[in-house]
Amino acid sequence: MQYRFPDNFWWGSASSAAQSEGSSLTGGKTPTTWDHWFALEPHRFHQQVGPADTSGFYQHFRDDIALLAELGHNTFRTSIAWSRLIPEGRGEPNPEAVDFYNAMLDELLARGITPFICLYHFDMPMAMQALGGWESREVVAAYAEYAATCFRLFGAKVKHWFTFNEPIVPVEGGYLYDFHYPNVLDFRRAASVAYHTMLAHAAAVRAFRAMGGEGQIGIILNLTPSYPRSQHPADVKAAHLADLFFNRSFLDPAVRGEYPADLVALLREYDQLPQVQEGDRSLLADGRIDLLGVNYYQPRRVKARLEAVNPASPFLPEWFFDSYEMPGRKMNPHRGWEIYEKGIYDILINLRDNYGNLPCYISENGMGVEGEEKFLGDSGRIEDDYRIDFIRGHLGWLHKGISEGCQCLGYHLWTFIDNWSWCNAYKNRYGFVRLDLASGERRIKKSGQWFAETARRGGF
Ligand code: BG6
Repeated sequence: MQYRFPDNFWWGSASSAAQSEGSSLTGGKTPTTWDHWFALEPHRFHQQVGPADTSGFYQHFRDDIALLAELGHNTFRTSIAWSRLIPEGRGEPNPEAVDFYNAMLDELLARGITPFICLYHFDMPMAMQALGGWESREVVAAYAEYAATCFRLFGAKVKHWFTFNEPIVPVEGGYLYDFHYPNVLDFRRAASVAYHTMLAHAAAVRAFRAMGGEGQIGIILNLTPSYPRSQHPADVKAAHLADLFFNRSFLDPAVRGEYPADLVALLREYDQLPQVQEGDRSLLADGRIDLLGVNYYQPRRVKARLEAVNPASPFLPEWFFDSYEMPGRKMNPHRGWEIYEKGIYDILINLRDNYGNLPCYISENGMGVEGEEKFLGDSGRIEDDYRIDFIRGHLGWLHKGISEGCQCLGYHLWTFIDNWSWCNAYKNRYGFVRLDLASGERRIKKSGQWFAETARRGGF
């Protein structure tokens, strides 16, 4: 075997409540911003497919968990839907939701699969958005109560908690680049949303520890290593600034308990800082995590800007750099993302050298492919050799990171079964398992069989 992984390595995949449960307005659940936005502007969603039409984990979780076992998983991440558990955002939990999440966790445990549970995966309850969403400190307080409710209800079964999945994405989508509700473009509001999200994270970590929570608590961040076009100082500076905006804005508070001083200075210079209150600093310091989930899909390549900024244009991170297309880069043309396997290793080395080598794992990595039907083989199986190559390439670099002392404890693919992907709906397929949209039939792809074998052997 060329790549042997440690015996207790976490093999698995990740999913999220909003993208898999379905039943988005039944079982006592109230709408999220996704239900609301879809009702307002269905044309913004691929083929006008909305959050009610997912793979139906709410009904099919037992069969789906049986498939996870077939896929050789020893771990699986999904999330709890705040708007299902506490329909008004605050108050008593919904008994039907408590039963569902208990049954789901029991089923995973019965199959020998350790549940990793995330508390928030882009799914803001509309009742909370009505109060201002993450712009509101009331919502921060409500989230902390919701988190404490989850620890109390499910803490006996869950030992790996994550406060947020990719908290920067709702900031980018909702307040800068128009791909999440409320479709605002305003950097100062974006900064406030980002800041309050981290306060909410820290409040949940504090609650977990105050309650004597067993196990580990962390956060899942999408890290995009920033590579400069060249070693010219202007390109290097551009990459540094992109790194501050897109990685260190969340990584530093999560791991070090404070924001990078140069990011704060830059935002102060442009009058973009959020409002800070007494007590925030110590709260953030208490939010330091035990375990980091790293979602890695693509690198970010940047160069110094060629043209001056129009000062009348809205303030954006792009005021400080241009993106750069490296000649000869390898692409996933369906998603428009560069494939750069070594990025995973660079992230791990950065965490080892600059962030105290905290325990981490690859919580998402994957390849979305449009029109995957054309790879259906005669036996009716999707022959996705490209996905196997993609996973092997990344696992190879991950393995090198481990061999050089990085504390990377596992690898989860995005995702278990082809799922509903926000505005892209079912455009790109990511799963180990094919979902036939018409019949709901599930069929393990070639990559799923390869992964199961790899997990069982502990390498490849
Ligand atoms: C991550 C998210 O950003 O990437 C998932 O955590 C998402 O929710 C996945 O589905 C794939 O990205 P996309 O945009 O192709 O769905």
